[in-house]
Order: sequence, then structure tokens, then C-alpha cells
Amino acid sequence: MKLLVTGAAGFIGSSFARLSVGLGHDVTVLDALTYAGNLANLDALKAAKNYRFIKGDIRDGKLAEEILTSTKPDALVNFAAESHVDRSILDASPFISTNVGGTQVLLDALRRARTKTRFLQVSTDEVYGSADDKKPFTEQHYLKPSSPYAASKTAADLLVLAWHHTFKLDALVTRCSNNYGPYQFPEKLIPLFTTNLFEGKKVPVYGDGMQIRDWIHCDDHSRGVLAALEKGASGQVYNLGGGNGVPNLQITRMLLKLTGRGDEFIQYVQDRPGHDRVYLINHEKATRELGWKPIVNFELGLADTVTWYRENKAWWEEVKSGAYRDYYQKQYGNR
Ligand code: NAD
Ligand code: TYD
Repeated sequence: MKLLVTGAAGFIGSSFARLSVGLGHDVTVLDALTYAGNLANLDALKAAKNYRFIKGDIRDGKLAEEILTSTKPDALVNFAAESHVDRSILDASPFISTNVGGTQVLLDALRRARTKTRFLQVSTDEVYGSADDKKPFTEQHYLKPSSPYAASKTAADLLVLAWHHTFKLDALVTRCSNNYGPYQFPEKLIPLFTTNLFEGKKVPVYGDGMQIRDWIHCDDHSRGVLAALEKGASGQVYNLGGGNGVPNLQITRMLLKLTGRGDEFIQYVQDRPGHDRVYLINHEKATRELGWKPIVNFELGLADTVTWYRENKAWWEEVKSGAYRDYYQKQYGNR
């Protein structure tokens, strides 16, 4: 397939780009390189003939239309988003602008370009709100987002489904649970805690630490997105999840063990406002219709991830210090 992948200088998009290029698909990455975008995440692809990078914003409809008409991709996979809940609580504007506005701009660029391009929106289980009854969400579950981030992703999902319904756009949505793995920005739980522990710093556990998330390795997520692209039906939503509902405190203790630190490194801090207690996802539809299921065992995947951070200190030190932001200039010069 010829793929246009937005947001692939980020965590999950870069996993998807590495997987797709490795399988021989032709991949063009479009990414604005916000604070979360890091070209170093795509270093492994630099020499590949079936990969190219374009620096650009998904809110630039003219650019999107130009890329679509010149490359005529089989699919556009939209990973580009503001992705961190805590930031959305501090300032929702970039979330509404990129996650909602950017998705609408891409959908309209597709209409104008009139190419036979399938649109896949990469979404999240957070659109369902908190599963306080501990029943995993199915795709039929009502939408009840709690955070500004989740609300912006919900709005985007609804736009995609409306463009499919009204304009007959070939479009579908995947909703995945919490991801972990290499190259995750160290503002999210697992890489923040891991790198803090390496640095001998405490880890800030929000509230009582008993919030449950369903963790999935980013490569399992990427395989699910690819399966949805290849086998998913237009206008449909597919849940993807790891089947690993684990309280934050349990993950914290696993990370303490993997990094050789003790309980004294736990710092309980004030809870996140509006903090959802439980996310659990039912991915039976994806298994049945796409033939997909997660294959990475959580304990092994987490241990491998900690090893990756141990072996890639330069990567996260550059990210934590902000030095990675010069990387584009170093690689491409001043343009
Ligand atoms: P990330 O923050 O690591 O990366 C986001 C990428 O999007 C960055 O490279 C950034 O530069 C780019 N970007 C942001 N705004 C842009 C814009 N206006 N134009 C072009 N590029 C822009 O995010 P992630 O964790 O890899 O998440 C990727 C996608 O997966 C998001 O849509 C997110 O909502 C979704 N998702 C994430 C998780 C998770 O656990 N991280 C779970 C389910 C779904
Ligand atoms: P996070 O990685 O931010 O993902 P999300 O909010 O999208 O689920 O957080 C995962 C869980 O970890 C969530 O319940 C909030 C909690 N958390 C902490 O306790 N401390 C932290 O410093 C962070 C970043 C998250």
C-alpha cells in the first residue's frame, strides 16, 4: 500500500511507520514536529527508499490536498494529535485546534482531492469515559469523555463517521487503550517513571494510584491499525486493547523492581482533576472481523521497554532537556 501517515514522528505513529516500511509499504510521513514530534524516532528509516518525511501541519488543507493529489495514497492514517491529558487540562486550545480542526481539514482535503484514499482515524478508549462498573467497553458503549483531550478525540471520531455517512468517504476509526513501548515521550506514566527512577528521582503517583488502565504494546497497536486498514469495513469502529487492566500502583511497583529501586521512591501527589478511574476495552470485534489480537505479554513487554530506556539514555536525555528540537535543523537544514 501507499500510505500517508500523519503524526508519525511521535510515539505510536513512528512504531506504525517502522512496521509498515519494514513490510514494504510506501510511507510518506506528514508531521508538524510539535514538542512531541522527534525525527530521531524515525532514524531507523532514514535510508529506506519507501519512506519520506514532510514537515507540515494537518491544519494546512492546501498542503494536505497537494500531497494527496501528487502521491494518490491508498490510505491516510491520522495519528497526529495533541495526546497528553494533563496538558489538555492546562490549555485545551491546541487540542481543539489540532485534534478537531485538523481532522476536519484532512477530511475536506480528501474530498477535494477526489483520490481513492481510505481514511483511518487513530482514536482512544478515553472517548467512553470511565468504566466504573469494570465492564470492558464495546464499540456500542455510549460516548462520555471526561477530559478536554478525550472530548477533542470524541469530536474527531464523530466528524470522521459523519463524513463517511454524508460524503460517502471511505473512513473508519480504531480506538485503542493505553500504549507503552520504546520512544514514548517521558511525560506519560511509564517513560516518566522509568527515566525518573534511572535518574534517582521520585515518581509522582496521582491520588491513591488505584486507577486502572488497559496497557498494550505500541507494536500490537500498530499491527491492529494495519489490520483495520486492510480488512476493516468502511464506517466502522474497532476497539483495540491489550487485555491488561492494571492499577497504576502495581505498574509503579513493577517499574521499581525493574530499576532496582525501593518504595521510598513513590511520591503520592494531588490527583489529576476529573481523573477517570477505570479504562477497560473489549476487542472481540477486532479479533473476529480483522483477525487481530495483541501478542506482546505485558510483563515481558514492560521489561523490554525498561531495557530500551536503559540502553537509549541519550534519546530520553535529549528529550527531557529539550535538545531534540534542534534535530530537524541538523538533519534538513534551515527550511
Ligand atoms: P505523541 O504525542 O507521541 O505524537 C503526536 C505526533 O503528532 C507528534 O509527532 C506531533 O509532532 C504530531 N502533531 C501534533 N500536532 C500536529 C499537527 N497539527 N500537524 C501535524 N502533526 C502534528 O502521540 P502518541 O502517543 O503517539 O499518539 C498518537 C495517536 O494515537 C494520537 O491520535 C492519540 O490520540 C492516539 N492514541 C494514543 C494512545 C496512547 O496511549 N498514547 C492510546 C490510544 C490512542
Ligand atoms: P498517562 O500516561 O498520562 O495516560 P492517560 O492519562 O492517557 O491514561 O497516565 C496513565 C495513568 O497514570 C493515569 O491514570 C494517570 C497516571 N499518572 C500518574 O499517576 N502520575 C503521572 O505522573 C502521570 C503522567 C500519570
